Amino acid sequence: MFKRNEAIDLNTVLAGRDLLRLLDLTPQEVALILKTAAEQKAAWKSGIHESPLTGTSVAIILEKPSFRTRSSFEIGAARLGAHPLVMADDHSAFSRGEPVKDTACILSRFCECIVLRTFEQSKVEELAQWADVPVINALTDDYHPCQVLADLLTIQEHLGDVRNLTMAYVGDGNNMSNTYLEAGALTGMNVKVCTPAGYEVSAALFDECVAAAQKYGTGAELTQLHDPLEVVKGANIVVTDTWTSMGSEAEHDARLKAFGGFQVTDELMKHAAKDAIFMHCLPAHRGEEVTDEVMGAPYSAIYDEAENRLHAQKAVMSLVMGVPASDAACEYARSLWGDVL
Ligand code: CP
Ligand code: NVA
Repeated sequence: MFKRNEAIDLNTVLAGRDLLRLLDLTPQEVALILKTAAEQKAAWKSGIHESPLTGTSVAIILEKPSFRTRSSFEIGAARLGAHPLVMADDHSAFSRGEPVKDTACILSRFCECIVLRTFEQSKVEELAQWADVPVINALTDDYHPCQVLADLLTIQEHLGDVRNLTMAYVGDGNNMSNTYLEAGALTGMNVKVCTPAGYEVSAALFDECVAAAQKYGTGAELTQLHDPLEVVKGANIVVTDTWTSMGSEAEHDARLKAFGGFQVTDELMKHAAKDAIFMHCLPAHRGEEVTDEVMGAPYSAIYDEAENRLHAQKAVMSLVMGVPASDAACEYARSLWGDVL
């Protein structure tokens, strides 16, 4: 295992790499992950159960609560043949206050990959700085890259090429909206983020995403607005997230007031494109950011989205842990974005 990858071969370009945020990746690399995930999902469902990571271990450290992320990483690692070592809450590697450096260096002696859900983005960055093995961000206050890779896979399955699509995000300017903007920049999907005043995505992050879209020439239009109706009009994907993220619970009552008018309802969905889908990373708070009706509507893709956490993360783990991408996946990535790495 090598940590920093100098490879220019697309099959192994992700081997040894960290995934701390989506902008760590190029458009080709996002395409490579999504195609690998689709291939692995199809293979698994057709009864082909390969275990390319047999003999390895993946440490999964969770400093915030988790249901989907824990389940999908733990089961995904096991399906790939790796031993998942889950350390959560009071039993996490950090629960006795040990330095990030010590944790990174020791886990690098035991494991071939470290997955971390934590608060500050700087902590996952520091872990990656000291670890000799790939580090994967399983949610921080700022980003949720694995969730959004799963979401992109889900959108492709339901609606096809994301370059022709517009996503309307209605809700809090948080780790999910941030990562959707990054995803737009890297895939060409248009992303419109709609928040109440005072809850916007930071200007610095927004500008960084616009700059990435320009640098790669993906053609994504990224916008920030305040009117849910205007944003949802004609959108192909309507997505929301909790108004109160983990760690912000003390603000819950103030947020309920501030987000009045931002609930995704069936009435709001009527303004979206004809075949639009609804998405939510979950957990959802029915009656707050979304109605029960929308969650259970025929256009709701929430369970496909949750399932795809497993497939997207299997692809990420296998690629960063050194399993080469298929030639077909490389060809797909090149067909979208050319040869430039
Ligand atoms: N969507 C998501 O990350 O779910 P969990 O918080 O349950 O892991
Ligand atoms: N924004 C939410 C996402 C949960 C998966 C949070 O950080 O709590």
